[in-house]
Amino acid sequence: MSRAQLSISKAQCLSNINNIKHHLNCHTKLLAVVKSNAYGCGVKQIVPLLREANFDYLGVATVKEAEDILAFETSMPILLLSEPLFDQWQDLPDTVEYTVYSQEFLTELINISNERPIKVHLKLNTGLNRLGASEDYFWDLWEQIQANKHIQIVGICTHLVESEVLESQKTKTQIQHFKEIIHRCRREESSPILAHVSNSAGLAIQPSIEMDMVRIGLSLYQNVLKLETRVLYVRRVLTGETVSYSQQFTALTDTTVAILSIGYSDGIPSSTESLNVLINGNAYPVIGRICMDMICVDLGDASCCVGDIAIIFDDTNGSTHDSLHEFADKTQQNPREAICKIGERVQRVMTL
Ligand SMILES: Cc1ncc(COP(=O)(O)O)c(C=O)c1O
Repeated sequence: MSRAQLSISKAQCLSNINNIKHHLNCHTKLLAVVKSNAYGCGVKQIVPLLREANFDYLGVATVKEAEDILAFETSMPILLLSEPLFDQWQDLPDTVEYTVYSQEFLTELINISNERPIKVHLKLNTGLNRLGASEDYFWDLWEQIQANKHIQIVGICTHLVESEVLESQKTKTQIQHFKEIIHRCRREESSPILAHVSNSAGLAIQPSIEMDMVRIGLSLYQNVLKLETRVLYVRRVLTGETVSYSQQFTALTDTTVAILSIGYSDGIPSSTESLNVLINGNAYPVIGRICMDMICVDLGDASCCVGDIAIIFDDTNGSTHDSLHEFADKTQQNPREAICKIGERVQRVMTL
């Protein structure tokens, strides 16, 4: 194992996918959200698995992310989940489908569509007030697309405000609004249009909102990940001595300290307090300031060897150590954020 490693259990990831599919209508399409390097897990590792599992779409946030995937995977449709910035409009990849909600971007697509047909997903704002066109504007864009024979609307979508909240009135209002829009779209357009709204939590909490396609991110990685590092050095620290920058930890008795080869540049936030790591089956506290490449662990009277493995979190089944959620809580992050921030130099390894 290298100095730090994120292991991804292929079997568990496939089992998550099967579980999601099991609860879906057999016609519902599956889009895997693989933005931010597949939530930090590595597109090179995750995308082949999604192809194997017959996902219908990949969803990305930027043109660069789409291009990085197209460099090794061309058989799966890719949807850009937000409009690109105008300075990227010159080099839009041919095969990508675009989310549209502004006149400016639609005008650009209309220009390009003289050279090649373009598929779009029109995004409606139903209350998140982030991306998406307001209703009037939506119909304006809709009519222009309908009048253009080179641009095809293949989807209409919106995004939920609080998908994780059970019985949310806000979600009900959003869905009601979205359904009214879908209804009118279908009256006006006879070719199939994919309506999509749900993310992982939305689907788990309200399966009835699956519609024609679901956009799944986090639930692909449930019980799948393990973050490990290795012991770089072991030292004895005497009573009254301090450990790491700024003297934030002072030894109250003589103790043994292991220095681990993972730091804030690898995804351990410098604000971390009360984190434990598991070395040779025992949990030990992280002490002192988190450094760029290292963290320090108080072993007390125990010891370990240089090269030993230290587990930061272990989300896989049967583990008794901190899960991804516990790690995220202790580092004041949400689980998506915690995995997205795992640094580039942490090796991503797919295990069976
Ligand atoms: C538009 C959109 N749909 C779906 C998702 C997937 O969300 P989740 O990770 O909760 O499944 C995201 C993630 O940020 C998103 O931005």
